[in-house]
Amino acid sequence: MASLFSWIFSSPKSCPSEEDQRCLLYNQIVQEGGQHHIAARLAELITNSGNAWPPKATHVESWPSALKPYNVVYQRIAPFLPVRESSLDDADNRRLINKTRALIAALLEEEIQIPDICETLEECSRYDSELMPMSAWLGFYSCLASLRHAYRWGVLPVVREAQNEKYLQFPRELDIPWPYIQRRVGITSPGGSLSSNSYYNLDGRREIVYSITSGMGEDHNRTELWNGLLFVEVEDKALPMYRHIAKASQFLENEDYSSTISTLRTANEELKVAFKHFYDNMNDYNLVPSLWLPYCQGFQGWTLEGIDGVSGGQNILIRTLDSFLGIRPWPTEEVEALHLPLAQRNWLNSLRTFDIRALAQKKGNEEVIQELEHMVTQLRLWRMGHMRRMQRYQVHRPERNKMTAGKSLVEEDSVQVSDDSAMVNHLKQMLSVRLKETK
Ligand code: HEM
Repeated sequence: MASLFSWIFSSPKSCPSEEDQRCLLYNQIVQEGGQHHIAARLAELITNSGNAWPPKATHVESWPSALKPYNVVYQRIAPFLPVRESSLDDADNRRLINKTRALIAALLEEEIQIPDICETLEECSRYDSELMPMSAWLGFYSCLASLRHAYRWGVLPVVREAQNEKYLQFPRELDIPWPYIQRRVGITSPGGSLSSNSYYNLDGRREIVYSITSGMGEDHNRTELWNGLLFVEVEDKALPMYRHIAKASQFLENEDYSSTISTLRTANEELKVAFKHFYDNMNDYNLVPSLWLPYCQGFQGWTLEGIDGVSGGQNILIRTLDSFLGIRPWPTEEVEALHLPLAQRNWLNSLRTFDIRALAQKKGNEEVIQELEHMVTQLRLWRMGHMRRMQRYQVHRPERNKMTAGKSLVEEDSVQVSDDSAMVNHLKQMLSVRLKETK
């Protein structure tokens, strides 16, 4: 925290020039954190996300030396994960999965010194330890989550043989660090999240650190990159809006209606920019429809012990809008804690508790109500647009059971049912509730 302040309050020239505006925005958000309880949660989101938003994870170079071999192991196994042609033979696939798992286990055993890991993680977890900054924890979380997903699936595209497993014993090298990460980041899932697998899986140049399409060629690599980058870039665009919705809440609480209205108007404009970025970039060049589901989506699933994997629904922009605008149902605390780091949940919960639309109704200022309704309309249109675009990505893959991106629902009798009908039905179900709420 001290280092954030010294960086923020140092001369503006200490920020690289293209980062100036970004630095200024972080500076404003952190300073305004003292003014209101919602602004405080936004400031905390930044300080707990590597002093940045979208989050800034740092990787192997920033970790204590005992942890560095995990990076080595991932980089060595990555080329063995994807295959060009999937086998449809369960026995072949079982052999392949077992082979990858044996390789991961052997490399972990060779590279990782368990006593050193325990000692280092204990030391890093002490509240006053400066051995591992938050950004390094986030990068380490990304590495361990990638290793756990690699061990879970064994081969990409994922195959039915692995999907049918209900329980799986992980090597102890992958189990021992996990509770430390869970406690530090504030998540409970045994698998990854959109944060670990997308937000924290890009380096300073916004390139993928733990790739799952090694050796597959440009189209695969680009699709993999955009599968993470799009989520990150919409957060770039959304941050100014987060600041303004926090400010609008404070203005409304103080019954400063003209400031509430003008701030909400600005927030609506900023939201338009974020959504435009999504529409401009979710296209067939950046994200090749035939490659996204087999080479990007499958790996994000989890399914073991009925636990969901990574979903686009875990992104913060849409959850922020749902929370701010009171679009229910919200996930239970228990479900949300599986995948959303504590600082993200605290931000969302502060907006939910405030419930600005209910307060606006109570205060009865028509223009405030109208600006909020405008935002609701933008969100509804985005949801319909996302669903339309998303349908292009739901291709049939004969090697696997149907599995939705986020819910990881696998049904045993589903061999004949294609992924497209499964996903569309699942999403329509979810959206029918949400779209009704936003009417
Ligand atoms: C990278 C390209 C993307 C593809 C191919 C894609 C595809 C999908 C699919 C197939 C689902 C359904 C998942 C399920 O059934 O669990 C889904 C859900 C969702 N996605 Fe995306 N998505 C993409 C990017 C994004 C981005 C950038 C955002 C946020 C700005 C987003 C937000 C959501 C949300 C919020 C849901 C849950 C449904 C809802 O609340 O509307 N997606 N996505």
